[in-house]
Amino acid sequence: SEPNQFCDAGIGYEESTCGISTTSSKILIKGGTVVNAHHLEVADVYVEDGIIVAVKPHIHVGDDVTVLDATGKFVMPGGIDPHTHLAMEFLGTESVDDFFSGQAAALAGGTTMHIDFVIPVNGSLTAGFEAYEKKSKKACMDFGFHMAITKWDEVVSKEMEIMVQEKGINSFKFFMAYKGFFMVNDDLMLEGFKKCKSLGALAMVHAENGDAVHEGQKRMIELGIRGPEGHALSRPPVLEGEATARAIRLASFINTPLYVVHVMSIDAMEEIAKARISGQKVIGEPIVSGLVLNDSWLWDPDFLTAAKYVMSPPIRAAGHDKALQAALSTGVLQLVGTDRCTSNSTQKAFGINDFRIIPNGVNGIEERMHLVWDTMVVSGQISVTDFVRVTSTECARIFNIYPRKGAILTGSDADIIILNPNSTFEISAKSHHSRSDTNVYEGRRGKGKVEVTIAGGRIVWQNDELKVVPGSGKYIKLPPYSYLFNGIDKSEANYLSSLKAPVKRTIISKADAQIEE
Ligand code: URP
Ligand code: ZN
Ligand code: ZN
Ligand code: ZN
Repeated sequence: SEPNQFCDAGIGYEESTCGISTTSSKILIKGGTVVNAHHLEVADVYVEDGIIVAVKPHIHVGDDVTVLDATGKFVMPGGIDPHTHLAMEFLGTESVDDFFSGQAAALAGGTTMHIDFVIPVNGSLTAGFEAYEKKSKKACMDFGFHMAITKWDEVVSKEMEIMVQEKGINSFKFFMAYKGFFMVNDDLMLEGFKKCKSLGALAMVHAENGDAVHEGQKRMIELGIRGPEGHALSRPPVLEGEATARAIRLASFINTPLYVVHVMSIDAMEEIAKARISGQKVIGEPIVSGLVLNDSWLWDPDFLTAAKYVMSPPIRAAGHDKALQAALSTGVLQLVGTDRCTSNSTQKAFGINDFRIIPNGVNGIEERMHLVWDTMVVSGQISVTDFVRVTSTECARIFNIYPRKGAILTGSDADIIILNPNSTFEISAKSHHSRSDTNVYEGRRGKGKVEVTIAGGRIVWQNDELKVVPGSGKYIKLPPYSYLFNGIDKSEANYLSSLKAPVKRTIISKADAQIEE
C-alpha cells in the first residue's frame, strides 16, 4: 500500500509546509534475498519506529503494516557515501545542491547516509562546525562529518579535542594540494597526525604534491595550454603517487592509521598495496568517477563538456579505471565514495580562459550505487555481499557506527534498499534529482535498479517518486577508536619500551682516546 503520511516535496524541493507526521510507519519487506557483508539469505525484514526489529523467514503481521514484496530482489543496507561536499564553498563559488536537494538525490539512488567534509572558517574548526550545522538543518537523511585541518596552532589542537570528544567527529583531512587555499606542509601534517593518534581519530589525506601541481600549472600556461586538458596535464599521476607515498610513510613514522581519499591512479593504488602488505593500517578509497571514467572527455572540443570532468586529482587515462576496479575487487582498496562536488555549467564557465579557475568536482551521490553494481557486480568482479561491504558496511566499520549502520540486523537503523537485478537504470541530467544542469554519466545505462529506499524507517523512494521531509535526517556522531586503532600503541610509554634501550656511553677505545687529545 502507498504510505500517505508523507508530503511529496516534488521537483524543485520547495520546503514543504504540509502537516507531516514524523513518526515512522511499520514496514514488512517480504521474500527478498537479504544481503549483509558477511551473509546472504532469503528472509523477511520487519521495521518499526525506524529500527529493524526482525530478520527471519515468514514474519506475519497485522493490517496496520505496509507490506513490500521483494521476491526475486535484493534487500540491502542503504549506501553510505564516505566522501561528499554538499554546498561547499571554494574558488568563489558554492557546489550545487544543499543538504536537502543533495540528500534527496542520494536517496533516489539508494544512498541513505553520507559523511561530508566540514571546511574550517579561516582555520577555525568551531566556526566551520557551526557553519555546517546551519547548512545541514534541512537534512532529509542521516549524515556525519569529517573535518579538514587547514592551519596549525594551539587553538586548532585544542579544537580537535573538542570536535572528537563532544561534537562527534572522528576523522580529520589534510589537503596536500590546493596551494594557497587548503594546502598543508609536512610540518603541519606531522602535528596533525600526532594529534589524531592521541585522540583515536582517523587521519585522511588528499594526496597530490601541491607545490609540484603549482609548477605544472605554470608550465601549462607558459605552453599556452589553457583549456581543461591543461588540468590533467598539470597534475599527472606521479604527483599523486609521490604524495600518497609521503603521507603513508609519515603515518608509519607516527604509527597512526591513514585513509587516502579519492585514489585515482595506479601510482597511488600501488603505494597503498605496498603499505598494506607490510602490515600498515592504510585504507584506500576509490571514487566512482575514477572507477568508470577516463580522461578522454578533457580533450572534448566543447568547453562545457570538457569542464564537467575537471576534478582533483584528475580523472586519469584509460587503464587506471580498470586497475582501480581490480584493486577494489581484490581488497587492495576497501570502499567506494563519490567526492561529489557538483557545479553547474555557469559555474564551470568561470574557467573558460583558464583551467586553473574551473570549479573542481563531479557529481555521483545519486549514481554511485547503480554504477558500482553495474560495473563491479554485473561484470562479475565482486559478489553481492562484497557490494554491500564496499558501498556500506566497510564505511560503517571505519567510521565506527557498525552495526547501527551498514547492516540488515535486528537493532540496526532501518536504512534499507530493494534492488531489482532484472530492471535497468539510465542516467541523465533530464531525470536526475540533483539541481545541477549536467551529469558526467549522461546517457549511461546499466543493469540493476534501486526500486525502493527506506531511510530512518520511512519509504522515501518508490515507483520513481521521492517523498522526502526536510529536517527528518539525523546528525550521526562518529565515535573515536575504530577497529583501525586495534593494536596501535596508545601511549608514548609503550613506544619507549618498544625501543632498544639507549646506551650510556664513555670513551673506552684507544682510537677515540687519541682523538680526544
Ligand atoms: O575536485 C574535487 N575533488 N573537489 C572537491 C574537493 C576535494 O578535493 O575533495
Ligand atoms: Zn509464512
Ligand atoms: Zn580532495
Ligand atoms: Zn573531496
